[in-house]
Amino acid sequence: MVITSENWTLIVLGDARAASKSAADVVTNTVLSKPEAAIAFPTGATPLGMFDVLAARAARGEADFSRATIFCLDEYIGVTIEDPNSLTRWLRKALLNRIGINPDQLHSLPVTAENLVDSAAEYDRAVSARGGLDLAVLGLGPNGHIGYNEPGSSADSRTRIVALTPESRNQASAYWEGSLAIPNQAMTMGVATLLEAKQIVLLVTGQAKADILRRTLQEPMNAEVPASWLRIAGSRLTIIADEAAASGLSVTVSA
Ligand code: PGA
Repeated sequence: MVITSENWTLIVLGDARAASKSAADVVTNTVLSKPEAAIAFPTGATPLGMFDVLAARAARGEADFSRATIFCLDEYIGVTIEDPNSLTRWLRKALLNRIGINPDQLHSLPVTAENLVDSAAEYDRAVSARGGLDLAVLGLGPNGHIGYNEPGSSADSRTRIVALTPESRNQASAYWEGSLAIPNQAMTMGVATLLEAKQIVLLVTGQAKADILRRTLQEPMNAEVPASWLRIAGSRLTIIADEAAASGLSVTVSA
């Protein structure tokens, strides 16, 4: 089922496996058509199936990431890559090491910089210097966040320090390890930086996301659901959902 509205595209597939493969197809096509593409990937449980498909394709030589550049979406303030809770470390292990991305192809957020504000602006300049993102693949937080653009994030927000909501800290507690307390702050690529991507994929699976996906797509765009801003990207936005995540949507089925 493919539904188009407001110029964005919603692809609903039977299950998470099919949705993961569809998202992996977009990534694969991006590096096939532009080997030196700049890409952002999400962390979380949702993208794991997509990562497996990409790793298998890279192993078979069907997708070549040797010239790609990866920009991390978010990271906890003060958490180094050596820390077991680092999102950058997690992404390297879950995907980047498996598809042959070397550390010199990876931009991580400057969360230990002395001047975090300047360093965040510098990160956006690095994205711009690369010509912007060719593809941003995003997950949908239970509270509507994209990256760590928490509720309240405006459409013109840039890469910056954000306060984590209790809900996001609770989400992090599911995997948090070691003695370090879950930080109160993170650095995230901004909504505006993401909106400038040439292509955006929002990957959403599971019944638990049905209501927040409905709010994302069917309520007026608003800062309380930061993912709703993605609709500004129009035809550059594709939402790939499984039937469970799409079950709250009331839409006209066109195909
Ligand atoms: P999840 O997280 O994939 O673990 O549900 C999504 C997100 O918070 O972006």
